[in-house]
Amino acid sequence: MQKKVALIVGSLRKESFNRKVANEFIRFAPDNLKLEIVEIKELSFFNEDIENNPPQEWLDYKKQLDDADAFLFVSPEYNRTIPGVLKNAMEIGARPPKENSWKGKPGAVVTVSPGLIGGLGANQTIREAAVSLNIPMMQQPEAYIGQIKDKLLEDGVTVNEKTEKFMKTFLEAFEIWVNRF
Ligand SMILES: Cc1cc2nc3c(=O)[nH]c(=O)nc-3n(C[C@H](O)[C@H](O)[C@H](O)COP(=O)(O)O)c2cc1C
Repeated sequence: MQKKVALIVGSLRKESFNRKVANEFIRFAPDNLKLEIVEIKELSFFNEDIENNPPQEWLDYKKQLDDADAFLFVSPEYNRTIPGVLKNAMEIGARPPKENSWKGKPGAVVTVSPGLIGGLGANQTIREAAVSLNIPMMQQPEAYIGQIKDKLLEDGVTVNEKTEKFMKTFLEAFEIWVNRF
């Protein structure tokens, strides 16, 4: 049975490398995984005062998480941790506590950076937050896609062959992980 995977991209930038990699994951997805980006850019700041009377955009977003069978985070690293917009999206998805939209569904994380370290800090931070969100995270393979500019072909959107191979290996492992739940 085909599983729905909500792709959460941690950058709002139009020319985001993370979004480009997320789109490549969509292109490489095996038949049994349907990957779709769930947008986070319209989400207002989380505020506990209104979590029981949330704005419509929070509800629409949570519905998309609720409809998903699994989650794939693709994010940059900002100042060795994660972008605030991604953290905000995590909070909104998790609240109110009895309506945690992440709860118990499998996930995985990929970080992408022009830098050498490939967003290691952000990758670990997402895994840390996943403990509280209650997303069982795939442990291996880890995916730190560093030096991304060198991994894109001249068109600026297609990843090179080696990266494609790695991304497909990652997806194969993720499909197995998702099917365990
Ligand atoms: C506020 C800010 C902080 C950043 N901190 C880091 C960092 O800690 N580690 C890193 O590898 N890159 C860092 N960068 C560079 C980003 O990796 C780079 O801008 C990247 O292209 C962002 O991802 P995107 O292309 O998907 O938008 C930072 C960029 C910004 C704007």
